[in-house]
Amino acid sequence: MSANDAFRITVLPGDGIGHEVMAPCIAVLEAAARRIGGFSLRFDEHQAGALAYRDTGVALPKSALDAARRADAILLGAMGWPEVRYPDGTEIGPQLDLRFELGLYAGVRPVRTLPNMPAVLADPRARQLDFVVIRESTEGLFASRGKGVVEEDREARDTMVITRKVCEPLFDFAFALARSRKARGAPGAVTCVDKANVFASLAFFRKIFDERAALNTDIRAEHAYVDATALYMVRRPWEFDVLVTENMFGDILSDLGAGLMGGMGFAPSADIGDENAVFQPCHGSAPDIFGQGKANPTAMILSGAMMLEWLGERHGREEAVRAGGIVREAVDAAYGAGLKPYEIGGGDGTGAVTDAVMQALARIG
Ligand SMILES: NC(=O)c1ccc[n+]([C@@H]2O[C@H](COP(=O)([O-])OP(=O)(O)OC[C@H]3O[C@@H](n4cnc5c(N)ncnc54)[C@H](O)[C@@H]3O)[C@@H](O)[C@H]2O)c1
Repeated sequence: MSANDAFRITVLPGDGIGHEVMAPCIAVLEAAARRIGGFSLRFDEHQAGALAYRDTGVALPKSALDAARRADAILLGAMGWPEVRYPDGTEIGPQLDLRFELGLYAGVRPVRTLPNMPAVLADPRARQLDFVVIRESTEGLFASRGKGVVEEDREARDTMVITRKVCEPLFDFAFALARSRKARGAPGAVTCVDKANVFASLAFFRKIFDERAALNTDIRAEHAYVDATALYMVRRPWEFDVLVTENMFGDILSDLGAGLMGGMGFAPSADIGDENAVFQPCHGSAPDIFGQGKANPTAMILSGAMMLEWLGERHGREEAVRAGGIVREAVDAAYGAGLKPYEIGGGDGTGAVTDAVMQALARIG
């Protein structure tokens, strides 16, 4: 924090709808900070992403990375553009570089349904989901990014990496999160999601999970295979509390979680390490709706709320935690009053969603 009590936030809007959802998020966070008082936010915007790479040859300029490293927190819109690729055919993804560079091992992806969402599943219990997928975000199959090999157009290989150095703090983070949720009425359980029946790397993942579970006996520790977890997320998702899993599995399961919430525009996330954290929606740059005013900024706004709470907890600033809480309250109130973005078949665009959340925020007493 700077001397005048402003949290310094590096802003990376990125590509496509990343820009469209960032401005509403900043407006809502500033309004919440003014509302609660006692702290402020100083935003510092940098260009990075696939289109920056196309135009300049650099996806994540050193100046942006240095600013991100020094900031109190990082807000990111979305990065990537399907037509812009490296020579090996993979996409430009500086959001992944940031996770690796800053050691952001804990990808926190809450699955919490908002009021009045259309029923995705028939069971009424699916209308009130509240669980969290923690996606390990610095290794797993993604450790092979940029290092995969294709031999003579005949055979390709990518390698899974699981390390004790990352898994121990990852699992401790999962147990700590389950503990704080338990204090607010959640069941107090962590499920390790793996494929330990087939892969040595994931049997090792489970072994380290069991070691950390033995140090956190106030929290129930469970195991599930990833394929069965996909089934359970559809058949009985209301039974989950905290899930912790490998990078690629978490990538896939968190999109399934977004589907349970109504779509990508409802799914917030945080990538948290020991020193830094990036807050961004789970969604990408959505080229199919870019420029039409249809992007749902809810996930970005809720990611901003997670940022305020993380900053408040980290710096012992209760007012920032409260500001995060009222942002979430305002989002709930706006949806409770009938807000319906295009994404779920309504007619509310980016501006209408933002206005509804701002008005709800102004009414919170
Ligand atoms: N973290 C990230 O920055 C991230 C994540 C995923 C994909 N990507 C990149 O984004 C680009 C597009 O990828 P994709 O199409 O697979 O995924 P996507 O998340 O951009 O879009 C998937 C679908 O969800 C919809 N959608 C996404 N966000 C929405 C929102 N806020 N409001 C309403 N609808 C929304 C899109 O219209 C699309 O139909 C690719 O270049 C990909 O690599 C980036």
